[in-house]
Parts: sequence; structure tokens; C-alpha cells
Amino acid sequence: MKILVINGPNLNMLGSREPDIYGTKSLDDINSELVEYSKTLSDNIELDFFQSNHEGDIVDKIQTAGSYDALIINPAAYTHTSIAISDAIKSVNLTAVEVHLSNIHSREDFRKKSFIAPSCIAQISGFGKDSYKLALLGLFRRLK
Ligand code: DQA
Repeated sequence: MKILVINGPNLNMLGSREPDIYGTKSLDDINSELVEYSKTLSDNIELDFFQSNHEGDIVDKIQTAGSYDALIINPAAYTHTSIAISDAIKSVNLTAVEVHLSNIHSREDFRKKSFIAPSCIAQISGFGKDSYKLALLGLFRRLK
């Protein structure tokens, strides 16, 4: 099972970025933990990681992701603005899960709206770095 994990803008700053909201782990730490977690589910899960601060680069990456079985995406601030990323997911018919470290529904009003959620089978929000693991668990059970 091949799964692509995409992280959007400013998530490369995890660890030092607003640690009270996003935690103290870097994105590399979170990705490594996810790889370790995947091995507890199956030795047949292959994870690829992509991070970009640029909307078009994320759209380009999704357009070439047709060979993946699923997508885990934290679109970060693009969650609340990007019809382009939402359309890209639909255009390649990818099974996708939207992930957030923080609970976007308990923060500012502008974070409550997700343009990405309608293109996804689920949204996981508020479990910190464990949100990625829960997304992987859900996808694994859905796809295996
Ligand atoms: C985030 C929530 C977004 O509102 C914010 O813009 C982010 C991170 C999260 O993981 O909690 O950059 O996606």
C-alpha cells in the first residue's frame, strides 16, 4: 500500500512554530514517527513525504499522485482558501484524508471552513502529531 503524505505551508517550521498550539516536534520527527507506526500496522505500507509552502507545487504533486493508493494531507492555511488543491484531489480520484494538528473547529472562525474536506473521505483534527497516525490507521483499515 503506497501512501503519499503532503504537508502545506509553514509546517516545515514545526518544532519552533507556536509550540503551544502545534507541539515541539519537527516535521521530520513526525514523519519518522509515522513510518515507525506504519510498521506496527503492516510491513507492506510505503510512505512518501512532500512539504511545500507553494499552492501550485502542491497541486502539481497531487496531479502526479495517481499511482498512490491514498493521500494524507495537512493543507495548513490552504485548508481555508484553496479550491485549487481541493479540485486537484478530485481530478486524480485519490482517496484522501485531511489532517490537522490543532482542532481547527475550536480556534478562530476563519479556520472552521475547509475547502479540502469535501474532496476527502475524513478529517482528523486536534490530536497533534497523532492525527497523522489516526489518518493512516483509518486508511489502512479502509483499503486493506
Ligand atoms: C493546521 C491548522 C491551520 O489552520 C493552520 O493554518 C496551519 C496548521 C494544523 O495542523 O492544525 O498551518 O493545518
